[in-house]
Amino acid sequence: MKTSLDLKLRLELYGINQETYYHAGVFWHAILPEFDEIINRFYAHILEHQKFRKLIPDPAKIDHLKVRQKAHWDRLFNSKFDDDYVRQVIATAEAHIKIRMPAYFYMAAYSIFLDELHAAAYRIALLEGNDVIATVKAINKVVIIDMDLTLSVYMKELVSLNSSQAR
Ligand code: HEM
Repeated sequence: MKTSLDLKLRLELYGINQETYYHAGVFWHAILPEFDEIINRFYAHILEHQKFRKLIPDPAKIDHLKVRQKAHWDRLFNSKFDDDYVRQVIATAEAHIKIRMPAYFYMAAYSIFLDELHAAAYRIALLEGNDVIATVKAINKVVIIDMDLTLSVYMKELVSLNSSQAR
């Protein structure tokens, strides 16, 4: 699965390099104290919608999901996009495929997080004088490659589903 995701080529195409890792890491350190609040706002928002609520039938599970969600972002922002990262992306996408979560729910979730991350990047840059352009570029690269890999897992699943139905 790892090689078929063409990770090396993807990293080159996105221009993900040491500078990206540096700015992603500095930003993650700065945003960490407010990340629980961001996650709380995310779940409050999606749970307003019945279609999302239906995917989480047990509300007691939400605290656990918040922990997993935070671990995901922590791994992403500290990632060097190694085998462990790829394995986790695949496992996470597969968990959502298993509960039959449509891909557009996933994309909507990323969009909500991107809003939060960009707003925080500007806020933190004003307070701490960070290079906001380099930070936003790093955020975009790591989040978009994560979305891209997730969607690739969804597409592979769709292809194998279609071909098994055709047999
Ligand atoms: C940015 C988008 C999202 C990320 C990064 C994310 C992250 C994760 C992670 C890391 C897990 C644990 C996976 C594992 O067990 O290996 C998980 C599970 C889960 N997520 Fe998400 N999630 C996202 C969006 C959503 C949305 C929009 C919903 C909709 C309600 C959702 C519902 C769930 C559920 C129900 C599980 C548990 C699946 C199971 O029972 O195994 N997630 N998520």
